[in-house]
Amino acid sequence: MKVIALAASSSSQSINKKLATYTANLVPNADVETLDINDYEMPLFSEDREKKLGNPQLAKDFYAKLGEADAIIIAYAEHNGSYTAAWKNLFDWTSRFERGLYQNKPMLVLASSPGPGGARNVLDAAVTSAPHFAGNVVGSLSFPSFYDNFDQETNEISNEALKSDLLALVKKL
Ligand SMILES: Cc1cc2nc3c(=O)[nH]c(=O)nc-3n(C[C@H](O)[C@H](O)[C@H](O)COP(=O)(O)O)c2cc1C
Repeated sequence: MKVIALAASSSSQSINKKLATYTANLVPNADVETLDINDYEMPLFSEDREKKLGNPQLAKDFYAKLGEADAIIIAYAEHNGSYTAAWKNLFDWTSRFERGLYQNKPMLVLASSPGPGGARNVLDAAVTSAPHFAGNVVGSLSFPSFYDNFDQETNEISNEALKSDLLALVKKL
């Protein structure tokens, strides 16, 4: 099973990238590919630019890459209660190329933050809107207080309850 994991974050130190990659590697016999959304950076979306540029190749490439997956795991970073600007830009461009960008792949939606809120606002937004973009969300999880619950040195979850929640989620893929 090919699993594509990504963080909806452009941070080189993204905790959500760590979480998405970690979770993808819990899938038995998975062929895991972790994407970096910086590889799909485009000008700030506007309808004026769209008229000028059409559909950028990078938006088409991102859509095609998601199409290679048997399952998709996205961990959303939360900025001011919503998507990061980097993700929103990629999402907007790609949705104009093809609105159903998640392509009905079985999908896990995760979100984490350093605080106890666990990026729940963006998680709720992503889960609620996914069906409008051909998102087949089979499970979701807010992962709170990342640095308390994920050991950076060993790359391992230190909170057993959260780990068993994630193990249960990957079984749904
Ligand atoms: C501009 C900005 C806004 C943020 N807003 C929120 C927020 O609304 N809720 C939250 O839980 N964390 C917020 N944070 C903290 C992020 O959760 C934290 O930076 C986290 O590491 C982002 O995920 P990432 O490492 O995967 O990019 C914000 C951070 C930045 C830089």
